[in-house]
Amino acid sequence: MSRIRTKMAAPALSRRSVLAVLSLMLNAAVLCNGGTTSSFVRKVEKAVDMPLDSDVFLEPPGYNAPQQVHITQGDLVGKAVIVSWVTMDEPGPDTVHYWKENSKHKKKAKATVTTYKYYTYASGYIHHCTIKHLEFNTKYYYEVGAGSLARTFWFTTPPEVGPDVPYTFGLIGDLGQSYDSNKTLTHYELNPAKGDAVLFLGDLSYADNYPNHDNVRWDTWGRFVERSVAYQPWIWTTGNHEIDFAPEIGETKPFKPFTHRYRVPYKASNSTAPFWYSIKRASAYIIVLSSYSAYGKYTPQFKWLEEEFPKVNRSETPWLIVLLHSPWYNSYNYHYMEGETMRVMFEPWFVKYKVDAVFAGHVHAYERSERVSNIAYNIVNGICSPVSDQSAPVYITIGDGGNLEGLATNMTEPQPKYSAFREASFGHATLAIKNRTHAYYSWHRNQDGYAVKADSLWFFNRFWHPVDDSTTAHS
Ligand SMILES: [Fe+2]
Repeated sequence: MSRIRTKMAAPALSRRSVLAVLSLMLNAAVLCNGGTTSSFVRKVEKAVDMPLDSDVFLEPPGYNAPQQVHITQGDLVGKAVIVSWVTMDEPGPDTVHYWKENSKHKKKAKATVTTYKYYTYASGYIHHCTIKHLEFNTKYYYEVGAGSLARTFWFTTPPEVGPDVPYTFGLIGDLGQSYDSNKTLTHYELNPAKGDAVLFLGDLSYADNYPNHDNVRWDTWGRFVERSVAYQPWIWTTGNHEIDFAPEIGETKPFKPFTHRYRVPYKASNSTAPFWYSIKRASAYIIVLSSYSAYGKYTPQFKWLEEEFPKVNRSETPWLIVLLHSPWYNSYNYHYMEGETMRVMFEPWFVKYKVDAVFAGHVHAYERSERVSNIAYNIVNGICSPVSDQSAPVYITIGDGGNLEGLATNMTEPQPKYSAFREASFGHATLAIKNRTHAYYSWHRNQDGYAVKADSLWFFNRFWHPVDDSTTAHS
């Protein structure tokens, strides 16, 4: 009897063992695996630039009419706006008229005019005008050009900087000027939860993909995005496609077209170059870094950032956000590790100062990380794996604006543990800050309806509410 029992018990034990082992393996898979690689598979088509005669590139009618109108924040706190535009035939008029909504009292501000040559291309007349001493949270109209060629636009200044001021940012990267770029911009504009300002993650026009960096494509891009950037400020980050370094055609001054066309308020944050700077806007402190300027120890960017982080007062601006082009945490097989040297230099500060989120572009796809850091390594200790860290930022790659280089579809496998969600689709995102503790983030792929969220997350502020906000903690 006992033998029979033993015989019968043996297979039962064995099944339990198998089940236990299986369960362990499944658990291990869950623990070792990263987050989600989206099951949505976009039809792979080549992204094609819109032809020069596309309606989105049309010049406004009339001799020397102002075109390529764009605005950005013009000071540290949002009481100034830089208005820029181009006239193709001759300089000026150089006056911007502006007035508050419901006011007949028009004020004037003067622009400066610049031009540049790039190989055989000669630019139009690029006007930049900083309108200062604006009131917070106020709608203004502004007019560039004169007489029958005057063109009127409007913007709303942000609320005064403060800890519980709600504010929504749009997030777009690597836009370019393909048919997909147009879809991305349209989806952003028609998103019912769209932002009041755009944080742009670098790589604007992709003019440098054309023979001799055909700068006509900088002009077409300026006309294409005017429908958004003339009405809400885009905060500029520089990407590799802004470098325009081409010694083979005698162009050896990096960033020449970009710096002539786009101005940023870098001096207001004591920066010495327009590629790294910071602004405050509502309840956010936004630090813009340059992946393509020196950032090693003793360099201007390093020294500036070292002095910048201690200035951030989370009681005034609870949300600390960093923008840069080349992502530090990227599990696609594109631009792999390109952000690594900057990560090594700066990541300890990001953890020390509890950055809430880092937004990057460059990789033409979407990816969101868990809160991780990788700062323990000291050359000899061998501790070189990213670990969960509630003082670390969430890293989001949103280089999926739709440029002609197409999507990054090839991912490293298995998905690393730090990668919470990834998908190779074009799209944009929004970050809606609600108060000092909560912000709602969502990513929208172009294939969906305007209000559909393909990825979303409540961010908990790292200073005021440092509770685990990871995907796994929510589920
Ligand atoms: Fe890039």
